[in-house]
Amino acid sequence: MHLLTVLSLAQLGLGTTTLIPTTCFDSYASLEKYFDYLYPWGSDHNGAARMVGNSTDHEYISVNSSTLTLVAKPVTGQPPTSSGVAINYLSGTVYAAQTFTVEAGSGFDIQAEFQAPTEKGTWPAFWLTGVDSWPPEIDLAEWKGTGDISFNTFNTSSEVEAVNVDYPSPDEFHTVRGEIRDEDGSNISVKFYLDGELVTTEYGEDYIGKPLYLIIDLQMEGSSGSPGPTTDTYYLIRNLSFEQI
Ligand SMILES: *[C@@H]1O[C@H](CO)[C@@H](O)[C@H](O)[C@H]1NC(C)=O
Ligand SMILES: *[C@@H]1O[C@H](CO)[C@@H](O)[C@H](O)[C@H]1NC(C)=O
Ligand SMILES: *[C@@H]1O[C@H](CO)[C@@H](O)[C@H](O)[C@H]1NC(C)=O
Ligand SMILES: *[C@@H]1O[C@H](CO)[C@@H](O)[C@H](O)[C@H]1NC(C)=O
Ligand SMILES: *[C@@H]1O[C@H](CO)[C@@H](O)[C@H](O)[C@H]1NC(C)=O
Repeated sequence: MHLLTVLSLAQLGLGTTTLIPTTCFDSYASLEKYFDYLYPWGSDHNGAARMVGNSTDHEYISVNSSTLTLVAKPVTGQPPTSSGVAINYLSGTVYAAQTFTVEAGSGFDIQAEFQAPTEKGTWPAFWLTGVDSWPPEIDLAEWKGTGDISFNTFNTSSEVEAVNVDYPSPDEFHTVRGEIRDEDGSNISVKFYLDGELVTTEYGEDYIGKPLYLIIDLQMEGSSGSPGPTTDTYYLIRNLSFEQI
């Protein structure tokens, strides 16, 4: 039997395409090649942090030593969001410049190392969300101020698979990995790993062919509780890779 009939191309590392390389945080030029500042829709979302950041101002979003740092700082005097949420912080968010679509017969492997805060009122996340509709949403990692890390896949706003597990020593880097695969031409599976251990496998309905944004944000308060910290909050990410299978 020929070797290639025993080992899949993916197992051999062939047939994979690097969409975001591990060098993406090596410089501002590289950051800005693969990411844009803010949310795809602007500065505000569903929490108490308003995002700031652009190519000339790196107070809230910086790269150094191949590490992306997002900082949230308490603020007063900001107007609320358009939906009336009070703004108590300025913070940083980036999203991938390209969007990602799981096609039939394919998938993605996404991995990065995080030093993420878990105090009450801190809500960092690393997530995929639909470009043209919501859901789809896959929270590859989300920390909601409890000490846990959450792994979530949404079918609808009420039909959600959500798994929360203990997140030890938040002041150290931990590796998060998500493996997304087409299951049947319509639904997908997601294997979530923390520090190399498979934590859970979740399934998403009707995800194939729907483009997704990748967002790295440091939201505050909202689902992570309030009041949040009165000092600056830091969220660090390094060695991110995004591979198409
Ligand atoms: C970048 O953002 C700062 C505020 O954080 C603002 O003063 C400056 O005008 C912005 N620059 C550009 C080019 O948008
Ligand atoms: C960059 O990172 C290094 C190592 O972590 C640190 O010593 C240095 O202070 C940082 N520089 C800036 C400008 O943040
Ligand atoms: C996707 O999952 C739904 C719900 O489990 C199921 O009804 C449907 O048949 C699945 N789609 C395909 C193409 O198998
Ligand atoms: C979402 O849909 C998938 C595919 O049909 C299904 O396997 C999964 O159980 C659903 N999730 C929830 C929370 O019902
Ligand atoms: C960076 O991540 C890749 C996987 O994407 C892994 O193979 C490599 O060992 C990591 N490098 C470091 C220095 O941790």
